Amino acid sequence: MRFEILTIFPNFFSSFFENGILRRALAEQLVEVGVHDLRTFTHDRHRTVDDRPFGGGEGMVLKPQPIADALASLGVKPKAVQTPTTVENPALYQGMTSVVPNSDPKIDRALAPAETRPTVIILSAQGRPFTQSLARQIAALDRVVLICGRYEGVDERINQLYCDMELSIGDYVLSGGELAAAVVIDAAMRLLPGVLGNEASSEFESFGIPDAEISTEVEGVPRSQHGAGGLLDYPHYTRPAEFAGLKVPEPLLNGDHQAIRRWRREQQLRKTQANRPDLLENATLSKEDRKLLDSFRNEPPT
Ligand code: 6GU
Repeated sequence: MRFEILTIFPNFFSSFFENGILRRALAEQLVEVGVHDLRTFTHDRHRTVDDRPFGGGEGMVLKPQPIADALASLGVKPKAVQTPTTVENPALYQGMTSVVPNSDPKIDRALAPAETRPTVIILSAQGRPFTQSLARQIAALDRVVLICGRYEGVDERINQLYCDMELSIGDYVLSGGELAAAVVIDAAMRLLPGVLGNEASSEFESFGIPDAEISTEVEGVPRSQHGAGGLLDYPHYTRPAEFAGLKVPEPLLNGDHQAIRRWRREQQLRKTQANRPDLLENATLSKEDRKLLDSFRNEPPT
């Protein structure tokens, strides 16, 4: 899959691309990323990308023209004049209002032009919350354009004309969408086939694929199964077995798979109750799990 990033800080992404899993994924062409400097799409001497907000108020707003020109250079037309094409993933567009829908249900998919429009995402604090489920849906797309907002925001007409989705990475205010774009790319690309060394490992983390879809047993150890919106991951340990006077929990040392599974499940429940009690509302819990949770609640504070 290919990401296109539209930004006024193209250098922001260099270290992100040059390290870790993304570096390898790029080298192996499992994922491609294009970074586009919005200033190269300005026409004035000062290369102006922003302007004062109509109606007054604090801060500056990213002008629509450089963004529209950058999108045009990528072959992205406004939705209003776009020939209807098949939508790669209709679930992504749920709840979206757009000038003209991206796909016309009256048009036979088979007759629609083969070309598919990239999915255009704007990153802003006003967006819909980014989740593991959205990361999975984005990873299934072929081409994604990420528009990084800056200052007070982006002229809303860019959103109306081009965007399929507005995403936020959490309930706090960042000074720009660049960090958020990096977060979205990281979360999506690591789900692509071949990107992680171990194909199975991303399935089992916190917010991994729903329980019902996991059937694998890794190395014969019955792994705890963390559903989407399920439980947080359990704590991990590696050698040495004792560090700074702290021992690795006994059940992990004995190779008793049943005991390991029980210990991990209990730890997941403890962690989730402590850090994300909201997740327990929607988690699939067994009678055993509920008993454990009750017993934690009755424990004396440590
Ligand atoms: Cl995507 N952008 C900005 N500016 N602030 C944010 C955000 C994005 N997500 C959370 N806060």
